[in-house]
Amino acid sequence: MRLNKGIVQSAIEEFALSEDELKKVREDFKNEITLPPCPPSEKGALKSIPLRGGRPKGDGSSSLKMLPSFLSTPTGNESGTYLALDFGGTNVRVLKIKLLTKGEYEIVNKVAAPLIKAGEYDFIHKDATGEELFDFIAKLIKEAINGDKGEIRLGHTFSFPSEQLDLANAKLISWTKEFQTRNVEGENVTELLKAALKRANIENVIPVAVINDTVATLLTAAYADPNALIGSIYATGHNTCYLEKNYNGQPMILNLESGGFSKVPRNGFDLILDERSEKRGAQFLEKATSGRYVGELFSIAAAKALESDKLFDFSSVDLCDMITNNSTSHFIKLRTNYAPTPDEAELFAKLANNILTRSALLVTATFLGLYDRIGEENLSIGIDGSLYGKNPFLQEIISGELAKVSDKISAFKVEDGSAIGAAIAAAC
Ligand code: GLC
Repeated sequence: MRLNKGIVQSAIEEFALSEDELKKVREDFKNEITLPPCPPSEKGALKSIPLRGGRPKGDGSSSLKMLPSFLSTPTGNESGTYLALDFGGTNVRVLKIKLLTKGEYEIVNKVAAPLIKAGEYDFIHKDATGEELFDFIAKLIKEAINGDKGEIRLGHTFSFPSEQLDLANAKLISWTKEFQTRNVEGENVTELLKAALKRANIENVIPVAVINDTVATLLTAAYADPNALIGSIYATGHNTCYLEKNYNGQPMILNLESGGFSKVPRNGFDLILDERSEKRGAQFLEKATSGRYVGELFSIAAAKALESDKLFDFSSVDLCDMITNNSTSHFIKLRTNYAPTPDEAELFAKLANNILTRSALLVTATFLGLYDRIGEENLSIGIDGSLYGKNPFLQEIISGELAKVSDKISAFKVEDGSAIGAAIAAAC
């Protein structure tokens, strides 16, 4: 195998963004934040908001879905014991959570299982059906309640673009993050869950709320901190929500589905990634930023530089490790079988750094666009997700960029936001 260093060098440059490009992302993002055209005016009217396939803007030009959640932020007084179902990444989790008010909670019980087990099953593959997927989830719920017959309310964090029918019901608009399970798109996921619970003879678990993971994160953040107005996930996927204080006269958390934001500067590697993806021409911000994709961007560039027909299998975790633990030579050899010289390894490390830095800068530019939209006030952004949570250098980029703009905006890490938020929603 031969390395074309020039290709790595030009990839490094292509993943660097200029101040002007970032400024434009911030501005475009702000301009795309528009409220759904027919806000609710009377009780029950929310049900009739015409979302037009999730595109709320009258002229259909915004790439942000702006989905109403039917929730405002919590008071902090929510309490009681609930089940939380967290579905949206490579693992599904069911937790029994006791809310103790004012940001305090206790995880009483927790079960988790991967959605893919090599050689055994793959519930996100196009050969799997929604029924099989929800039967698997019901089995986990059974494990979590562990024979308990008392009635318990369940909050469901379902981390995909969904049209909310009311707090308890939501229809999946379309899969993202390369999920392909059949017979779920266009369906009411609460109905699918209820049917699976019935098949599993679970009668005492009552699904009462279904929410996006960004909404769950904001609920969790605001349960402890009333200044939290923005919730974001920076993990396998990327997305943000915020509290709109005046949604036809009432506060409402809106899920932006910002991973679908389309005005993102893209280079040749982004175009190849998009071509290879399940949903081409969609989720541009997510494809440039999230854990599901950053490793693949590196793989595409490395395959080109090593003139390989086969795509390598670098993950976001590899990239982060290369930067923080000086392990680039190890990972290049492991994934490509090519042993780089120290100089070459340094170039690859720079490439990993630029891919991840671009990711964090783009995410921050959208936060700033939202900040510009909300206006000057003290506001904090609660962020959950493995890519953010496990990588202090990404946290530093985001905090540093925010601090350059104002001391009124800050970001903080939310632990277990998806699960705790599901319990809070069930309590609301
Ligand atoms: C994807 C989903 C979105 C979710 C995000 C983070 O972007 O479309 O709903 O919030 O991933 O999990």
